[in-house]
Amino acid sequence: MKWPMTALGLLITAAAASAALTPLPPGPPSNPTTPEKVALGRALFFDPILSRDRSVSCASCHDPARAFTVPQAVSPGVGGRLGRRNASTLVNVGDRQALTWAGASPNLEVQAMIPLQDHAELDMTPELLRERLQADPAYAAQFRAAFGEAPSVQNLVRALAAFQRTLISRDSPFDRYRAGDASALNEAQVRGLDLFFDRAECFHCHTGRDFTDGLAHNNAMRVFNPDIGLAERTEQEGDVGRFITPTLRNVALTGPYLHDGSRATLRDLLETYNDGGEPNPNADPLIHPLGLTDAELDDLEAFLHALTDESVARNPAFRPERP
Ligand code: HEC
Ligand code: HEC
Repeated sequence: MKWPMTALGLLITAAAASAALTPLPPGPPSNPTTPEKVALGRALFFDPILSRDRSVSCASCHDPARAFTVPQAVSPGVGGRLGRRNASTLVNVGDRQALTWAGASPNLEVQAMIPLQDHAELDMTPELLRERLQADPAYAAQFRAAFGEAPSVQNLVRALAAFQRTLISRDSPFDRYRAGDASALNEAQVRGLDLFFDRAECFHCHTGRDFTDGLAHNNAMRVFNPDIGLAERTEQEGDVGRFITPTLRNVALTGPYLHDGSRATLRDLLETYNDGGEPNPNADPLIHPLGLTDAELDDLEAFLHALTDESVARNPAFRPERP
């Protein structure tokens, strides 16, 4: 078995302890994680109070039962309005350096302001958020416990970020295999793992312990797409169609796939990769015909299923808790 060291060095994780015992991630110096912030962030994440007509919460598009995604290509916000992109998984999101498909936000605190204000998501204003939370006695008390002051938008995004940093998922069959349990993967999955880290070339971009390099690539899935991806920010022709490599953790639960949710199944996507993608001028040279047989595609798909952490859907810490 070939294990490219660059890819593998980062993959080694301790055998995942039970979720209940996982210590809180420290968070950045500007927003250290505390149990009070996490509890408040959890309540807010599941509460439609954060949307203009009180109909939509963060969890409406980020459902823990599906590793914090939803099965729609594009999920409706307030008034049934549709955005243009597929909701990202939030699992291990505290470790991402560039958030959103185009890498538009540097951290979770900044990121939260996007759905809060987006017309097609929660459609709020900072003033309305502050007024509403200050008028709610339970939240007013909980903000005081977490931050020592009345609800503010700055503390709202800090609490949401603190909660999201706890959404840690590293207890898949793959993790157990890496930790030394040879029986955690079946034979097809082990063959798929070998393909992933070798002939199928997936590891170049889907690397590190969460299977992402955090960089934007054009993986040759589409040619002319109204969503130009990274070029939206850089205005460079060569960045058209480049998107941040998504994590593959829990990928069997997070379909449909790609930034626009245009691929319904993993198999469809794997077949496109095997064909060398749909050529376009910005396609990454790493994407080329792979020459894998149907049986090898079965193995690769079986390996992707071994990245599912069944405990995410069950974890009581990832469920709503009203103050
Ligand atoms: C209407 C659906 C919807 C709602 C409501 C929603 N999101 Fe999202 N979320 C999305 C979509 C779509 C994306 C991808 C956006 C993009 O790439 O431009 C996303 C991306 C994210 C990301 C980036 C993840 C990554 O790895 O890049 C974070 C973090 C996030 N949402 C958190 C939240 C929080 C917190 C809330 C509540 C305040 C929320 N979302 C509400 C649909 C939604
Ligand atoms: C050149 C870098 C690169 C290589 C090589 C690569 N990918 Fe990707 N992959 C990406 C990018 C970028 C996306 C997101 C593209 C988009 O949304 O339009 C993606 C998306 C995916 C998705 C969809 C995930 C989701 O949440 O929507 C899966 C599954 C996937 N890749 C698996 C693989 C497999 C398996 C291989 C090897 C056969 C592979 N990738 C090779 C960069 C790459």
